[in-house]
This record gives sequence, structure tokens and C-alpha cells, in this order.
Amino acid sequence: MRGRITKDGIRIYEDADFAGMREAGRVAAMILDDIGALVVPGVRTGELDDFIRSEVERHGVTSATIGYKGYQHASCISVNQVVCHGIPGAKIPKRGSDVILDADILNIDVTVIVEGWFGDTSRMYAAGNVKPFRQRLIDVTHEALMRGIAAVKPGNTFGDIGHAIQTFVEANRMSVVRDFCGHGLGRVFHAPPNVLHYGRPGTGAVLEEGMFFTIEPMVNLGRPETKVLADDWTAVTRDDRDSAQFEHSIGVTATGCEIFTLSPGGKFFRP
Ligand code: MF3
Ligand code: CO
Ligand code: CO
Repeated sequence: MRGRITKDGIRIYEDADFAGMREAGRVAAMILDDIGALVVPGVRTGELDDFIRSEVERHGVTSATIGYKGYQHASCISVNQVVCHGIPGAKIPKRGSDVILDADILNIDVTVIVEGWFGDTSRMYAAGNVKPFRQRLIDVTHEALMRGIAAVKPGNTFGDIGHAIQTFVEANRMSVVRDFCGHGLGRVFHAPPNVLHYGRPGTGAVLEEGMFFTIEPMVNLGRPETKVLADDWTAVTRDDRDSAQFEHSIGVTATGCEIFTLSPGGKFFRP
């Protein structure tokens, strides 16, 4: 049965709605493809956000983050120990400026609205020479996302997704952030359910064809605890160690899922 809300408050979208999400996801992912060449030592996060804003305009779409709960930017840019919601153009924590330095790793998170549909995706980038321990964090985080996605099919549960992510991350002696989660989306930015990146098999709402949501694990090299800085946005690790994140927007199909935000240019590495 389609076009309804489940008992867990999750909207079931129609087959035709996949086309809208596909296009929104494609535009968001294309912007992430195109910003890659700009991520070099010396660039300012403010400049990266300016580029994203201009790309959003060039594509003739709308930024979902500008004006969202007072947020003023077209992206979140989270450097090193920043877990999520880093503010472009603001001082990088414990630094005097927003300048990216050699060996920094950063997450860039973009959400666009295309014909009313939301495409939400983020990836990690490395500036200059990335240190092996940071590359490993990036690789584990991406693989954790993909293992979560591999658990998506009708009849499985949200707990199965979280469990797949958590077990992989912890087997690599890293930790999963609990304080932020993925979310339903579609014609809205954030909708039920909360998509936890940890959990027990068989728990939580049952996945059904037509559900649209993000999976966006944040993985820490140290402890999972976070804190939000005085700017009310920037979330950092409490122990000051590095954090990474990847995010895809997906839709549940009859046999598995469709990833709406795969790189159109096949840019993203280590699939
Ligand atoms: N794109 C983020 C997410 O994955 C939300 C950013 S909200 C903002 O849900 F206001 F911080 F931009
Ligand atoms: Co999201
Ligand atoms: Co996002």
C-alpha cells in the first residue's frame, strides 16, 4: 500500500516520487563532485561555501540550509575534530582563521531543493598530504555508510542498519557518534524517523518500499561524545580527536534501495 504514513510516522512515497529525489540527489552530488578540485591547502572554508552558493544558483535550484533555523550558509564544513555543522567562514576551532591547512580532513555537507524535493549528501575531502590514520578514518566511515546501505531492504529494520554500521566501526576500534542521526526526507528536510547509526538487529521500525531517508554516520577516532560550541552549531569531539562523516539520501525499493546521491562523475573513491 502506498501514499500513506506508517504507524511509526514514516511517509511512504509513490513510485513517481523517486524521479524527484533522483534529480535532487544528482544536483547535490554534482556540487560535491565539482568542489573537490577547490579543496587544497590555503583555501578558506568561506570560499568553499561561496562556490557552493554559486553552483546552487547556476543549477537554478535552492539551498535548503540558507535560512534553516537561522543558519546562513549553503553548506556545513566540518574540519578535523568538528563532528558536524561546522560553519563556513567561521574560525576553525583552536585556530585563528577559516584557512584550510595541509593534512586537514573535512566534511562538506550540501542540501538542495529541486522542484520541492530535498537532496542531502556529504563527503570527506583531504587537503594536501593526508596522514594515514586520517585516511583510515575516512575509509572506515565510508565503508560503514555503505554497509548500512547494504542492510536496507523491505522487511529489515532501522536497527539492522544501525547494527551494520556500529559493528563495522567498532571492529575497527573507532566509535559511532550517538548525538546526531540520519532522518527521513522527501518534500521536507527532516522527517521521521531518526536513523540511528548504532543499534540491535531486528529493533526499530520495519523498512518498507517507498521510504526516503538519509544515512549519515559520524565516526570518531576516539570517544563518541560530542559538544556544541558557543555558536550553537559547531559540534566537536569532546576528546578533541578527529571525526569523519559521509551521507547519502536513499529510497527503499522492492528489493533493496536506490542511492539518490551517488557521485554522477564516479568521483568518489574506494567504493
Ligand atoms: N545537511 C545536514 C543534515 O545532514 C543538516 C544541516 S542543517 C544546517 O541533516 F542548518 F546546519 F545547515
Ligand atoms: Co542529513
Ligand atoms: Co546533510
